[in-house]
Amino acid sequence: MEAIKNYISEHKERFISELIDLLKIPSVSADTAFTQDVLDTADAVKKALTDAGCDAVEICETDGYPIVYAEKIIDSALPTVLVYGHYDVQPADPINLWTSPPFEPVIKKTDKHPEGAIFARGACDDKGQMYMHVKAMEYMVRTNQLPCNVKFMIEGEEEVGSSNLAIFVANHKEKLANDIILISDTGMIANDVPSITTGLRGLSYVEVEVTGPNRDLHSGLYGGAVANPINILTKMIASLHDENNHITIPGFYDNVEELSKEERAEMAKAPFSLENYKNALAIDAVYGESGYTTNERNSIRPTLDVNGIWGGYTGEGAKTVIASKAYAKISMRLVPNQDWKEITDLFKKHFESIAPEGVKVVVKPHHGGQGYVTPINTVGYQAASKAYETTFGKKPIPQRSGGSIPIVALFEKELNSKTILMGFGLDSDAIHSPNEHFGVWNYLKGIETIPYFYQYYTELFKK
Ligand code: BES
Ligand code: MN
Ligand code: MN
Repeated sequence: MEAIKNYISEHKERFISELIDLLKIPSVSADTAFTQDVLDTADAVKKALTDAGCDAVEICETDGYPIVYAEKIIDSALPTVLVYGHYDVQPADPINLWTSPPFEPVIKKTDKHPEGAIFARGACDDKGQMYMHVKAMEYMVRTNQLPCNVKFMIEGEEEVGSSNLAIFVANHKEKLANDIILISDTGMIANDVPSITTGLRGLSYVEVEVTGPNRDLHSGLYGGAVANPINILTKMIASLHDENNHITIPGFYDNVEELSKEERAEMAKAPFSLENYKNALAIDAVYGESGYTTNERNSIRPTLDVNGIWGGYTGEGAKTVIASKAYAKISMRLVPNQDWKEITDLFKKHFESIAPEGVKVVVKPHHGGQGYVTPINTVGYQAASKAYETTFGKKPIPQRSGGSIPIVALFEKELNSKTILMGFGLDSDAIHSPNEHFGVWNYLKGIETIPYFYQYYTELFKK
């Protein structure tokens, strides 16, 4: 199948310019200012899937942004792969930290990407990675090499919790029936250290509001005599970790799966340089739960982090004021067996219980989802592993990721299928951050690797 390499070198300029066109549409699902752009992106994805040779391409309306569905069924006796991805992106702000505008993609060289990377919001998460599948499909259809049935389901609300997709999946089990789900929305260790993501963390996301006096007060006239909601909120948040950086919410660790010594030793074999890690982030020390390594802290351990905190006066100069209210947004990353709804309840109960007299505390749950771990002794994993071995010349390392794609656990529950996470991004690609980018090499390598997955999966499936 050298043919795929030839096909890529013949068409790569077009592959890149098509992705750039898609990245120009600001499909920010969190911000209603971009509603029309998100809808336009769904149309663009529909057109791309049609051009790639899919049949029955449709825009499926939901109560939110639509899901683009497509399929190519060649023989019901053959296995069916369901490709999932998302066409929505995170907000681009803070815009002033971008070295080029987030929706005007440009190719620039970086240390990790000497052959150039496409800089744009969504380049890696997930338009670029989703589009690899569209181009791999184009190759397989145009050269008559599609070995099995394929379904595509590309949504527009992943970055805001996929709540409408969950409904869609529950209502269309037959339409979505498949043997394996394939997703490229994660990363790998390095371009010369391929890895396959075998786990995702769950998530519970909450917002808290602390109210003190009924109005903002003069901090001299009232200071010291009434509870200051910002003082109280920061104190409450600080108390959520103890001196070992364990989370103090009662019951939080009850269902956490502890890995065996052997499993942890296996994990520790993945190449990792603490020096490079610190240098890349310009920090002089790492920080986290005692008793665990950096790679354990960010994958197999649950965490609690403030994502945003506000209240009071933050404008220019000084204003002497005690705010009436203080707020924070908090995420908890969960590991398998922790139930995200249960954890949300535990948080709410605990946070309300530690509020001192003089303030009112409200906890508002946002979205969340279950974590996921996939076994590696399956036909799907073996096929993916062989595909990487073919195109990277190295066996990929299984690795659990710290990120979350909550819909994956739901796929397993509703559709009874396992998911294979073939991610081609790097942690340094700055997803969700200013200057997000995706290596051109990674993009083309993904397009090259995907058809092998289909071939090996179909072969192994028959046996
Ligand atoms: N693609 C990411 C998740 C990801 C990235 C997993 C890298 C593993 C490695 C996804 O788009 C994402 O950002 N998920 C959110 C959760 C969602 C409910 C908003 C996350 O992890 O914060
Ligand atoms: Mn994503
Ligand atoms: Mn994301």
